Amino acid sequence: MEEKVRLQKAIAASGVCSRRKAETLIVEGKVKVNGVICNKLGTLVSPLDHIEVIGENLKEEEKVTFLFHKPLGVLSTVKDDRGRKTVIDFFKDENYRLFPVGRLDFNTTGALLITNDGELANLITHPSSHLEKTYIAIVEGRFTPEAALKMEKGLFLDDGMTAPCKVKILFSNFESKVAITIHEGRNRQVRRMCEHLGFKVKSLMRTSIGFIDLGTLKRGKYRKLTDIEIATLKRLCINNKEKNIIPDYKKKIS
Ligand code: URA
Repeated sequence: MEEKVRLQKAIAASGVCSRRKAETLIVEGKVKVNGVICNKLGTLVSPLDHIEVIGENLKEEEKVTFLFHKPLGVLSTVKDDRGRKTVIDFFKDENYRLFPVGRLDFNTTGALLITNDGELANLITHPSSHLEKTYIAIVEGRFTPEAALKMEKGLFLDDGMTAPCKVKILFSNFESKVAITIHEGRNRQVRRMCEHLGFKVKSLMRTSIGFIDLGTLKRGKYRKLTDIEIATLKRLCINNKEKNIIPDYKKKIS
């Protein structure tokens, strides 16, 4: 979700004036949020809100999106009350109001998009975008083709049926390595799918988001997505939404 900040901070961050001056302008009724005058100090705004200082349009922060390789033991949030490390701590050199697009569990590693682009984040995280994400799970025990088939067809978890997905067994012995591609974004979904079939997950790594692949990006490192990658990602989400892809399992019910 987009990180909200106080209105005076957002104005100051845009470079229009100092935070003190922004507070004065707000109290004087000279600031509009989404077309409506807002004279309340401390109003929370997100990058999606349109802020205007009367007579002067706020400079929009340049939109940037990074592909980050999230390490183990890092929170997918902007800040943490308990002082634990968050993904945004890795972006101290970047002067943008960044937030993660969706989440990876504390103990999941891999591809995570970090952005200040609210529109992109909304498109990607909206269920109708059906953006595929691939995970590599190392599980205890022999992962059989039967288990893979069950997972592919959909499993009945405590929050309902999972959509059909793709499963590829890469290695299977006393422990197994499985590539799982899903297009939903439910909480701890891949872990719960594995556990449902009796497989304890030893490690989980997301290797791609749509066509954006982690490649050789090292843990804790990031790279900026190109304009073409961003435009293609947006187009992919919009196309899926427009096509109104209804997963097969839902078609059967209705
Ligand atoms: N599924 C999970 O179980 N964990 C994640 O972090 C992402 C998907």
